Amino acid sequence: MNEKQLAAEKSIEFIKDGMIVGLGTGSTVFFLVNKLAESVKQGLNITCVSTSNQTSELAKSLGIKILNLNDVDQIDLTIDGADEVDKNLNGIKGGGGALLYEKIVANASQKVIWIVDSSKFVEKLGRFPLPVEIISFGSKQLFNRFDELGFRPQIRKNGSNNFITDSGNLIVDLHLNEIDDAIILERQIKLMHGVVEVGLFNNIADTVIVGKEKSTEIFSRK
Ligand code: A5P
Repeated sequence: MNEKQLAAEKSIEFIKDGMIVGLGTGSTVFFLVNKLAESVKQGLNITCVSTSNQTSELAKSLGIKILNLNDVDQIDLTIDGADEVDKNLNGIKGGGGALLYEKIVANASQKVIWIVDSSKFVEKLGRFPLPVEIISFGSKQLFNRFDELGFRPQIRKNGSNNFITDSGNLIVDLHLNEIDDAIILERQIKLMHGVVEVGLFNNIADTVIVGKEKSTEIFSRK
């Protein structure tokens, strides 16, 4: 079993009967959804909310019912992947382009667990390009502003076309290499006109389950 699968399958232990569960997006969550579908077939009674069309389609194809976020009051537990996590359990997300819905679902959740392989655990955030979701109108000006700030922006592509998020927006990946203060940077970028959401997830994850060789390690926010 690879590290992503190890972390994903461990996280199932936190899901209890009757819960409203938020499902993240990505290749680690893929293992979670598959395993969860087995539990649901065996009688686990849960309601799920999804963070992307990709996850909704996968879950529904495996017999997991997905509700709209507007149809639930709050979510008991959300389990999601991450692209980088530091020792404070802050992280970068959005490698799959689902950061906006992921942040909204996480903020509606009582508890958030991230599932990652050991390569995602880093000393300092920023080597992974920071995804920022922006609206198309004025994206050229915003791109130039990122460039002036030395953020080394790159519009995400899907083949020869621009990558389009589930909300119809663009993603700019910022090649920062190192982030000194993730809290200040999140605020700075979020305040720029045309920015919809930033892939910095500060003070959001309560627990991180790391797949490590043949076992898992669990870190929780103090
Ligand atoms: C989706 O937009 C992302 O935030 C994913 O959660 C993140 O990229 C982790 O993806 P993997 O599990 O595929 O590494």
